[in-house]
Amino acid sequence: MEPVEEAASAALAAIAAASNLADLADVKAAHVGEKSPIALANRAIADLPPDQRKAAGMAIGAARARVNEAFAAREAELSSLALDERLRAEAVDVTLPVAQPVGAIHPVTAMIHQMCDIFVAMGWEVADGPEAEAEWLNFDALNFTPDHPARFLSDTLFLDPPEHHKLLRTQTSPVQMRTLLTRDLPLYIVSPGKVYRADEYDATHLPVFHQLEGLAVDKGLGMADLRGTLDHLAQSLFGDGIETRLRPHYFPFTEPSAEIDVRCFVCKGECGPDKPCRTCKSEGWIEWGGCGVVNPRVLAAAGIDTDVWSGFAFGMGIDRTVMFSTGARDLRDFVEGDMRFAPLFGRLLDLEEVAA
Ligand code: DAH
Repeated sequence: MEPVEEAASAALAAIAAASNLADLADVKAAHVGEKSPIALANRAIADLPPDQRKAAGMAIGAARARVNEAFAAREAELSSLALDERLRAEAVDVTLPVAQPVGAIHPVTAMIHQMCDIFVAMGWEVADGPEAEAEWLNFDALNFTPDHPARFLSDTLFLDPPEHHKLLRTQTSPVQMRTLLTRDLPLYIVSPGKVYRADEYDATHLPVFHQLEGLAVDKGLGMADLRGTLDHLAQSLFGDGIETRLRPHYFPFTEPSAEIDVRCFVCKGECGPDKPCRTCKSEGWIEWGGCGVVNPRVLAAAGIDTDVWSGFAFGMGIDRTVMFSTGARDLRDFVEGDMRFAPLFGRLLDLEEVAA
Protein backbone atom coordinates (compact mmCIF):
# COMPACT_ATOMS: atom_id res chain seq x y z
CA MET A 1 0.00 0.00 0.00
CA GLU A 2 2.95 2.30 0.31
CA PRO A 3 3.10 3.22 -3.38
CA VAL A 4 -0.59 4.15 -3.21
CA GLU A 5 0.02 6.41 -0.21
CA GLU A 6 2.96 7.96 -2.03
CA ALA A 7 0.90 8.50 -5.16
CA ALA A 8 -1.86 10.09 -3.08
CA SER A 9 0.61 12.39 -1.30
CA ALA A 10 2.15 13.36 -4.62
CA ALA A 11 -1.31 14.07 -6.02
CA LEU A 12 -2.31 16.19 -2.99
CA ALA A 13 0.96 18.14 -3.17
CA ALA A 14 0.50 18.78 -6.91
CA ILE A 15 -3.12 19.86 -6.39
CA ALA A 16 -2.07 22.29 -3.64
CA ALA A 17 0.75 23.65 -5.82
CA ALA A 18 -1.45 24.33 -8.89
CA SER A 19 -1.84 28.08 -9.01
CA ASN A 20 -4.33 28.34 -11.89
CA LEU A 21 -6.88 26.27 -13.80
CA ALA A 22 -4.46 25.41 -16.59
CA ASP A 23 -1.94 23.97 -14.10
CA LEU A 24 -4.77 22.11 -12.45
CA ALA A 25 -5.74 20.52 -15.77
CA ASP A 26 -2.18 19.15 -16.04
CA VAL A 27 -2.40 17.89 -12.45
CA LYS A 28 -5.60 16.12 -13.33
CA ALA A 29 -4.00 14.24 -16.21
CA ALA A 30 -0.98 13.24 -14.11
CA HIS A 31 -2.57 12.44 -10.76
CA VAL A 32 -6.32 12.08 -10.97
CA GLY A 33 -7.24 10.88 -14.45
CA GLU A 34 -7.60 7.43 -15.90
CA LYS A 35 -3.85 7.02 -16.42
CA SER A 36 -2.77 8.28 -12.99
CA PRO A 37 -0.88 5.88 -10.64
CA ILE A 38 -3.89 5.63 -8.31
CA ALA A 39 -6.25 4.78 -11.17
CA LEU A 40 -3.82 2.17 -12.40
CA ALA A 41 -3.51 0.73 -8.87
CA ASN A 42 -7.27 0.58 -8.68
CA ARG A 43 -7.38 -1.39 -11.87
CA ALA A 44 -4.64 -3.75 -10.57
CA ILE A 45 -6.82 -4.84 -7.61
CA ALA A 46 -8.31 -7.54 -9.81
CA ASP A 47 -4.89 -9.12 -10.19
CA LEU A 48 -4.35 -9.50 -6.40
CA PRO A 49 -5.05 -12.75 -4.57
CA PRO A 50 -8.70 -12.70 -3.49
CA ASP A 51 -7.97 -12.39 0.23
CA GLN A 52 -6.04 -9.13 -0.33
CA ARG A 53 -8.53 -7.48 -2.60
CA LYS A 54 -10.87 -6.07 0.04
CA ALA A 55 -8.15 -4.31 2.07
CA ALA A 56 -6.50 -3.00 -1.08
CA GLY A 57 -9.82 -1.82 -2.45
CA MET A 58 -10.65 0.09 0.72
CA ALA A 59 -7.20 1.71 0.94
CA ILE A 60 -7.13 2.74 -2.70
CA GLY A 61 -10.75 3.91 -2.56
CA ALA A 62 -9.98 6.08 0.47
CA ALA A 63 -6.87 7.51 -1.22
CA ARG A 64 -8.84 8.26 -4.38
CA ALA A 65 -11.61 9.89 -2.43
CA ARG A 66 -9.14 12.19 -0.65
CA VAL A 67 -7.48 13.13 -3.93
CA ASN A 68 -10.82 13.73 -5.72
CA GLU A 69 -12.11 15.84 -2.86
CA ALA A 70 -8.95 17.92 -2.75
CA PHE A 71 -9.10 18.29 -6.50
CA ALA A 72 -12.73 19.48 -6.48
CA ALA A 73 -12.03 21.94 -3.68
CA ARG A 74 -8.97 23.39 -5.44
CA GLU A 75 -10.88 23.58 -8.72
CA ALA A 76 -13.68 25.56 -7.07
CA GLU A 77 -11.16 27.85 -5.42
CA LEU A 78 -9.21 28.51 -8.62
CA SER A 79 -12.42 29.03 -10.67
CA SER A 80 -13.59 31.64 -8.27
CA LEU A 81 -10.19 33.36 -8.35
CA ALA A 82 -10.25 33.30 -12.15
CA LEU A 83 -13.74 34.85 -12.19
CA ASP A 84 -12.67 37.57 -9.76
CA GLU A 85 -9.70 38.34 -11.91
CA ARG A 86 -11.81 38.54 -15.08
CA LEU A 87 -14.34 40.81 -13.43
CA ARG A 88 -11.53 43.04 -12.25
CA ALA A 89 -9.93 43.11 -15.72
CA GLU A 90 -13.21 43.79 -17.54
CA ALA A 91 -14.55 46.37 -15.10
CA VAL A 92 -15.91 49.50 -16.79
CA ASP A 93 -15.41 52.78 -15.01
CA VAL A 94 -18.63 54.56 -15.88
CA THR A 95 -17.26 57.77 -14.43
CA LEU A 96 -14.50 58.07 -17.06
CA PRO A 97 -14.97 60.78 -19.72
CA VAL A 98 -16.40 59.38 -22.99
CA ALA A 99 -13.94 59.24 -25.85
CA GLN A 100 -16.59 58.36 -28.46
CA PRO A 101 -18.19 61.16 -30.45
CA VAL A 102 -21.63 61.84 -28.99
CA GLY A 103 -24.64 62.10 -31.28
CA ALA A 104 -26.59 65.23 -31.98
CA ILE A 105 -30.18 66.00 -32.78
CA HIS A 106 -30.62 65.97 -36.54
CA PRO A 107 -30.82 69.53 -37.83
CA VAL A 108 -34.29 68.97 -39.29
CA THR A 109 -35.58 67.56 -35.97
CA ALA A 110 -33.92 70.43 -34.11
CA MET A 111 -35.59 72.94 -36.44
CA ILE A 112 -38.99 71.23 -36.05
CA HIS A 113 -38.64 71.44 -32.25
CA GLN A 114 -37.60 75.06 -32.42
CA MET A 115 -40.46 76.09 -34.74
CA CYS A 116 -43.08 74.16 -32.78
CA ASP A 117 -41.82 75.63 -29.49
CA ILE A 118 -42.35 79.14 -30.86
CA PHE A 119 -45.99 78.36 -31.70
CA VAL A 120 -46.70 76.37 -28.54
CA ALA A 121 -45.48 79.39 -26.54
CA MET A 122 -48.28 81.37 -28.24
CA GLY A 123 -50.87 78.75 -27.31
CA TRP A 124 -50.98 76.95 -30.65
CA GLU A 125 -51.25 73.16 -30.81
CA VAL A 126 -49.15 70.69 -32.80
CA ALA A 127 -51.27 68.48 -35.09
CA ASP A 128 -50.32 65.35 -36.95
CA GLY A 129 -51.39 63.67 -40.17
CA PRO A 130 -50.49 60.52 -42.12
CA GLU A 131 -47.91 60.48 -44.88
CA ALA A 132 -49.99 58.04 -46.96
CA GLU A 133 -52.95 60.33 -47.57
CA ALA A 134 -56.28 60.34 -49.37
CA GLU A 135 -56.11 62.17 -52.69
CA TRP A 136 -59.25 64.00 -51.62
CA LEU A 137 -57.52 65.55 -48.58
CA ASN A 138 -54.30 66.34 -50.43
CA PHE A 139 -56.09 67.97 -53.39
CA ASP A 140 -59.94 68.10 -53.62
CA ALA A 141 -60.58 69.40 -50.11
CA LEU A 142 -57.99 72.09 -50.74
CA ASN A 143 -59.97 73.32 -53.75
CA PHE A 144 -57.71 71.83 -56.41
CA THR A 145 -60.04 71.29 -59.38
CA PRO A 146 -60.29 67.71 -60.72
CA ASP A 147 -58.13 68.67 -63.69
CA HIS A 148 -55.65 70.82 -61.75
CA PRO A 149 -52.20 70.12 -63.20
CA ALA A 150 -50.56 69.72 -59.75
CA ARG A 151 -52.53 66.51 -59.27
CA PHE A 152 -51.15 64.84 -62.34
CA LEU A 153 -47.73 66.37 -62.35
CA SER A 154 -45.31 63.54 -62.74
CA ASP A 155 -43.99 64.34 -59.28
CA THR A 156 -47.05 63.13 -57.34
CA LEU A 157 -46.50 59.59 -56.06
CA PHE A 158 -49.80 57.70 -56.20
CA LEU A 159 -50.16 54.45 -54.28
CA ASP A 160 -51.39 51.21 -55.79
CA PRO A 161 -54.12 50.38 -56.58
CA PRO A 162 -54.95 53.70 -58.29
CA GLU A 163 -58.70 53.23 -57.78
CA HIS A 164 -58.15 53.72 -54.02
CA HIS A 165 -57.07 57.31 -54.71
CA LYS A 166 -54.29 57.26 -52.15
CA LEU A 167 -50.97 59.03 -52.50
CA LEU A 168 -47.88 60.02 -50.55
CA ARG A 169 -48.82 63.53 -49.50
CA THR A 170 -47.10 66.17 -51.61
CA GLN A 171 -47.57 68.84 -48.94
CA THR A 172 -48.54 69.09 -45.26
CA SER A 173 -51.65 71.08 -46.25
CA PRO A 174 -54.00 68.02 -46.03
CA VAL A 175 -53.59 68.34 -42.25
CA GLN A 176 -55.64 71.55 -42.62
CA MET A 177 -58.80 69.68 -43.60
CA ARG A 178 -58.11 66.87 -41.12
CA THR A 179 -58.01 69.39 -38.28
CA LEU A 180 -61.01 71.34 -39.54
CA LEU A 181 -63.02 68.12 -39.57
CA THR A 182 -61.94 66.90 -36.14
CA ARG A 183 -61.32 69.92 -33.91
CA ASP A 184 -63.56 72.56 -32.45
CA LEU A 185 -63.22 76.20 -33.41
CA PRO A 186 -61.37 78.41 -32.81
CA LEU A 187 -58.24 76.48 -33.72
CA TYR A 188 -54.58 77.35 -34.01
CA ILE A 189 -52.33 74.49 -35.18
CA VAL A 190 -48.96 73.88 -36.71
CA SER A 191 -48.12 70.54 -38.30
CA PRO A 192 -44.56 69.54 -39.18
CA GLY A 193 -43.85 66.44 -41.23
CA LYS A 194 -42.52 64.60 -44.24
CA VAL A 195 -43.80 65.21 -47.75
CA TYR A 196 -43.01 63.28 -50.93
CA ARG A 197 -42.46 64.23 -54.53
CA ALA A 198 -40.88 62.24 -57.34
CA ASP A 199 -38.19 64.91 -57.50
CA GLU A 200 -34.56 64.84 -58.46
CA TYR A 201 -32.06 63.82 -55.79
CA ASP A 202 -29.46 66.57 -55.87
CA ALA A 203 -27.96 69.38 -53.79
CA THR A 204 -31.24 71.34 -53.69
CA HIS A 205 -33.91 68.61 -54.06
CA LEU A 206 -34.88 65.55 -52.06
CA PRO A 207 -37.78 63.25 -52.97
CA VAL A 208 -38.67 63.26 -49.25
CA PHE A 209 -38.48 66.56 -47.44
CA HIS A 210 -40.21 68.38 -44.59
CA GLN A 211 -42.75 71.16 -44.34
CA LEU A 212 -44.31 73.07 -41.49
CA GLU A 213 -47.99 73.80 -42.04
CA GLY A 214 -49.84 76.43 -40.02
CA LEU A 215 -53.58 77.01 -39.78
CA ALA A 216 -55.54 79.43 -37.64
CA VAL A 217 -59.34 79.74 -37.75
CA ASP A 218 -61.13 82.18 -35.47
CA LYS A 219 -63.57 85.08 -35.65
CA GLY A 220 -62.20 87.98 -37.64
CA LEU A 221 -58.80 86.63 -38.63
CA GLY A 222 -57.19 88.06 -41.75
CA MET A 223 -54.05 89.01 -43.61
CA ALA A 224 -52.73 91.28 -40.82
CA ASP A 225 -52.83 88.40 -38.33
CA LEU A 226 -50.97 86.21 -40.82
CA ARG A 227 -48.33 88.88 -41.30
CA GLY A 228 -47.85 89.39 -37.56
CA THR A 229 -47.56 85.66 -36.97
CA LEU A 230 -44.95 85.18 -39.69
CA ASP A 231 -42.94 88.19 -38.47
CA HIS A 232 -42.98 86.74 -34.96
CA LEU A 233 -41.77 83.38 -36.29
CA ALA A 234 -39.01 85.04 -38.32
CA GLN A 235 -37.84 87.14 -35.38
CA SER A 236 -37.89 84.22 -32.97
CA LEU A 237 -35.83 82.12 -35.37
CA PHE A 238 -33.50 84.68 -36.89
CA GLY A 239 -33.31 87.63 -34.52
CA ASP A 240 -34.98 90.92 -33.69
CA GLY A 241 -35.95 93.11 -36.59
CA ILE A 242 -36.03 90.26 -39.14
CA GLU A 243 -39.30 90.79 -41.03
CA THR A 244 -41.19 88.95 -43.71
CA ARG A 245 -42.40 90.19 -47.08
CA LEU A 246 -45.46 88.88 -48.92
CA ARG A 247 -45.55 88.67 -52.72
CA PRO A 248 -48.89 88.00 -54.44
CA HIS A 249 -49.21 84.42 -55.64
CA TYR A 250 -51.86 81.77 -56.28
CA PHE A 251 -52.80 78.73 -54.19
CA PRO A 252 -56.22 77.11 -54.65
CA PHE A 253 -56.83 76.87 -50.89
CA THR A 254 -56.05 80.47 -49.94
CA GLU A 255 -57.51 83.72 -51.26
CA PRO A 256 -55.70 86.04 -51.37
CA SER A 257 -52.48 84.04 -51.50
CA ALA A 258 -48.88 85.08 -51.23
CA GLU A 259 -45.37 83.78 -51.18
CA ILE A 260 -43.40 84.65 -48.05
CA ASP A 261 -39.86 85.92 -48.13
CA VAL A 262 -37.85 86.45 -44.97
CA ARG A 263 -35.41 89.35 -44.64
CA CYS A 264 -31.87 88.01 -45.03
CA PHE A 265 -30.67 87.80 -41.45
CA VAL A 266 -27.01 87.96 -42.47
CA CYS A 267 -26.87 91.13 -44.60
CA LYS A 268 -30.24 92.48 -43.37
CA GLY A 269 -30.87 93.65 -46.93
CA GLU A 270 -27.75 95.77 -47.05
CA CYS A 271 -26.14 93.69 -49.77
CA GLY A 272 -25.50 94.90 -53.30
CA PRO A 273 -23.11 94.58 -56.24
CA ASP A 274 -20.30 96.01 -54.11
CA LYS A 275 -21.30 94.03 -51.00
CA PRO A 276 -22.35 90.51 -52.09
CA CYS A 277 -24.18 88.21 -49.66
CA ARG A 278 -23.89 84.46 -50.01
CA THR A 279 -26.90 83.62 -47.83
CA CYS A 280 -29.53 85.52 -49.88
CA LYS A 281 -27.50 85.50 -53.14
CA SER A 282 -27.48 89.30 -52.77
CA GLU A 283 -31.28 89.53 -53.02
CA GLY A 284 -31.76 90.90 -49.49
CA TRP A 285 -34.67 88.43 -49.09
CA ILE A 286 -34.88 84.65 -48.88
CA GLU A 287 -37.85 82.72 -50.34
CA TRP A 288 -39.47 80.83 -47.52
CA GLY A 289 -42.93 79.40 -48.33
CA GLY A 290 -46.54 80.04 -49.23
CA CYS A 291 -49.43 81.51 -47.27
CA GLY A 292 -52.75 83.28 -47.44
CA VAL A 293 -56.23 83.80 -46.06
CA VAL A 294 -58.06 80.46 -46.00
CA ASN A 295 -60.32 80.20 -49.03
CA PRO A 296 -63.95 80.16 -47.75
CA ARG A 297 -64.56 77.15 -50.04
CA VAL A 298 -62.17 75.13 -47.85
CA LEU A 299 -63.99 76.15 -44.67
CA ALA A 300 -67.36 75.48 -46.30
CA ALA A 301 -66.19 72.00 -47.39
CA ALA A 302 -65.60 71.30 -43.69
CA GLY A 303 -69.13 72.53 -42.86
CA ILE A 304 -67.92 75.76 -41.23
CA ASP A 305 -70.06 78.94 -41.33
CA THR A 306 -67.90 81.36 -43.32
CA ASP A 307 -69.98 84.36 -42.21
CA VAL A 308 -68.68 83.79 -38.69
CA TRP A 309 -65.26 82.19 -39.08
CA SER A 310 -62.19 83.03 -41.10
CA GLY A 311 -58.58 82.04 -41.00
CA PHE A 312 -55.10 82.12 -42.39
CA ALA A 313 -52.63 79.40 -43.37
CA PHE A 314 -48.99 79.08 -44.26
CA GLY A 315 -46.50 76.40 -45.21
CA MET A 316 -42.74 76.43 -45.53
CA GLY A 317 -39.90 74.02 -46.18
CA ILE A 318 -38.09 72.97 -43.02
CA ASP A 319 -35.00 71.50 -44.72
CA ARG A 320 -34.70 74.75 -46.68
CA THR A 321 -34.97 76.74 -43.46
CA VAL A 322 -32.13 74.66 -41.97
CA MET A 323 -30.08 75.24 -45.10
CA PHE A 324 -30.21 78.98 -45.17
CA SER A 325 -30.05 79.39 -41.41
CA THR A 326 -26.98 77.20 -40.92
CA GLY A 327 -25.10 77.53 -44.18
CA ALA A 328 -25.48 73.78 -44.95
CA ARG A 329 -24.89 73.63 -48.71
CA ASP A 330 -26.07 70.25 -49.90
CA LEU A 331 -29.43 68.65 -49.07
CA ARG A 332 -27.99 65.18 -49.66
CA ASP A 333 -25.94 65.63 -46.48
CA PHE A 334 -29.28 65.67 -44.60
CA VAL A 335 -30.01 62.04 -45.41
CA GLU A 336 -26.70 60.31 -46.09
CA GLY A 337 -25.84 59.75 -42.42
CA ASP A 338 -22.33 61.22 -42.19
CA MET A 339 -21.69 61.31 -38.43
CA ARG A 340 -20.10 64.76 -38.69
CA PHE A 341 -23.22 66.40 -40.12
CA ALA A 342 -25.72 66.44 -37.25
CA PRO A 343 -23.29 67.80 -34.61
CA LEU A 344 -22.33 70.55 -37.03
CA PHE A 345 -25.82 71.75 -37.98
CA GLY A 346 -28.06 70.12 -35.37
CA ARG A 347 -28.48 73.43 -33.65
CA LEU A 348 -28.67 76.90 -35.07
CA LEU A 349 -25.18 78.32 -35.36
CA ASP A 350 -24.36 81.84 -34.20
CA LEU A 351 -25.18 84.33 -36.91
CA GLU A 352 -21.54 85.43 -36.86
CA GLU A 353 -20.55 81.86 -37.63
CA VAL A 354 -22.97 81.70 -40.53
CA ALA A 355 -21.70 84.98 -41.97
CA ALA A 356 -18.04 83.98 -41.63
N1 DAH B 1 -48.69 73.54 -49.62
C1 DAH B 1 -47.97 74.56 -50.34
C2 DAH B 1 -46.81 73.94 -51.09
O1 DAH B 1 -46.43 72.85 -50.79
C3 DAH B 1 -47.48 75.62 -49.40
C4 DAH B 1 -48.59 76.44 -48.83
C5 DAH B 1 -49.06 77.53 -49.50
C6 DAH B 1 -49.16 76.10 -47.62
C7 DAH B 1 -50.08 78.34 -48.98
C8 DAH B 1 -50.20 76.87 -47.08
C9 DAH B 1 -50.62 78.00 -47.79
O2 DAH B 1 -50.79 76.59 -45.93
O3 DAH B 1 -51.60 78.76 -47.24
O4 DAH B 1 -46.31 74.56 -51.99
